[in-house]
Amino acid sequence: MTTASTTATAYWEPLWSQGRRYRQLDDSENQLLEQHLGAGRGRLALDIGCGDGSLTRRLNEIGFRPTGIDCSPSAVALAAAQDPGPGRVPVWQCMDFTTDDLATLPEPAYPVITCRLVYRWIDDKAAFLDRVRRLLAPGGTFWVVTEITGRRPATDPLQNLGITPAQAELLTTGWSAVRTADLDVLRCYALRPCPPCDLMEDR
Ligand SMILES: C[S@@+](CC[C@H](N)C(=O)[O-])C[C@H]1O[C@@H](n2cnc3c(N)ncnc32)[C@H](O)[C@@H]1O
Repeated sequence: MTTASTTATAYWEPLWSQGRRYRQLDDSENQLLEQHLGAGRGRLALDIGCGDGSLTRRLNEIGFRPTGIDCSPSAVALAAAQDPGPGRVPVWQCMDFTTDDLATLPEPAYPVITCRLVYRWIDDKAAFLDRVRRLLAPGGTFWVVTEITGRRPATDPLQNLGITPAQAELLTTGWSAVRTADLDVLRCYALRPCPPCDLMEDR
């Protein structure tokens, strides 16, 4: 396992190592995931900011061959410790997705890329989305789960966990298909890339 040493690591590693944990997947979210991604059928998947691995494990269970990456060594260690033993298990890798060399990933492209409760925390969202597009295979799906603003009462101290309309606009611009599904305070996005320019010119 390589170790990242970045601003993101400096923020997240103390949280994970001191016991902070995040919302787990439930049946409703699992259903939406399968509705939008389908069964894995052995396809590769990359889960960015996997934390302790709940989404990565779910992808593995429904037949994907997932890699979970996170900038926090403690999170990656927690994820790997939950591997169920013999059988196909996810690949776990410690890296900062925004700064580390993408060539260190096990594969050059992924038909499914996921990112759950992470987008909100990325400073340079445009650069982040560029990196995702570089890795997303043609015809693939980028699955994003994020809280959006305006879902909590104005007095809720966690109100700022939601992304703003401008951040949502940035997320959803430049894809050939955008599908969304709402889940209490969360919104799930299934984003499909535009065909490469040379294909479009043939039309
Ligand atoms: C709120 S947690 C969500 C964890 C997990 N996706 C889940 O749904 O339980 C956000 C995660 O994103 C990771 N993260 C944030 N910035 C990152 C980056 N630049 N590269 C890799 N991981 C990052 C954090 O370490 C943390 O584990």
